[in-house]
Amino acid sequence: MEKMNLKKIAAERAVEEIKPGMVVGLGTGSTFQFALERIAEKIKSGELYNIVCIPSSDRTEAEAKRLGIPLTSFEEQINTNSQLSAFNFPQIIDVTIDGADEVTVGHPESDSSNEGSINVIKGGGGALLKEKILAQATKNFFVIVDESKISKHLGEKFFVPIEVIKFAASIEEKFIQSLGAKTSLRKNANGENYITDENNYIIDATFGPIENVEELARKLEQRAGIVEHGLFVGMAKKVFRSMSNGEVKEIVVSN
Ligand code: A5P
Repeated sequence: MEKMNLKKIAAERAVEEIKPGMVVGLGTGSTFQFALERIAEKIKSGELYNIVCIPSSDRTEAEAKRLGIPLTSFEEQINTNSQLSAFNFPQIIDVTIDGADEVTVGHPESDSSNEGSINVIKGGGGALLKEKILAQATKNFFVIVDESKISKHLGEKFFVPIEVIKFAASIEEKFIQSLGAKTSLRKNANGENYITDENNYIIDATFGPIENVEELARKLEQRAGIVEHGLFVGMAKKVFRSMSNGEVKEIVVSN
C-alpha cells in the first residue's frame, strides 16, 4: 500500500474515536490532514454533530476553517464550562488526534510491547509547542502513524526538534551540543531562520538512539531559553499504526 494511503487509513480509523458532543484537539501535519478531511466529511453527513475543536497550529486552524469545522479556544471552554473548578485538573479536551515523527511502544529491552509507555518525537512540522499544550490538556491523546515510524529507541530515525526563544538560540544550541547532539538551526524554504507560530526558532538535534528519554526531557526542561522539546513521554494513550497489508493496529500499553 502507498505511503499516503497508509497515512489515510490510520487517520480515518482514529477519527472513529470522536463522538458527538466532544471537544476535540486537532493535530498538525500530512497524516493529520486526512483526519481533518474525514472529520469535515462526518460533520457534513450529520454523523458527527455538536463537536468543537481546538487547533494545534495556525496551519491547521486555516484548514479547519476552510473545511467548515467548528473551532473553539481554551478560554471559551473554560468560561462556558461550569463543571470545571480550580481543583479539577483542566483536561478539557476529550480526544486529540495527531501524527508523529517517531514512536516507541513499551520497553526497548522487553519483547512485549504491551507494557511501559508510548513515547513520541513530534515537531517535524514545527508545531510542537501548541501540540504539547493540547496533549497535556487532553483526556485521550491518540497518535496516528504508518509502520515506518515505529522504532526500538527514539532518535534512531528522527532528530528531536527543540523550540527556543530567539535571544537564547546560540547558547541553547551549545547546551544541546553538550548533551551529545549534532544540531542545526531550522531554516525555511528560502534559507531564512524558520519562525514558529509563537515567533521562536527551532533547533533540530540529532542524538542517535536515546537511551534515557525521560532524563533527556528533564535536562532540556531545565533550560530557561528552551520553550519546549519534541519528546512526548508517556502522553499518548493509543497508537493507530497502519501496516503495509492495509490493516490498522490499535496499540495500547499498560504502565
Ligand atoms: C508537526 O509539528 C508534527 O509534530 C507532525 O505531527 C509530525 O511531524 C508528523 O507529520 P507528518 O504526518 O506530516 O509526517
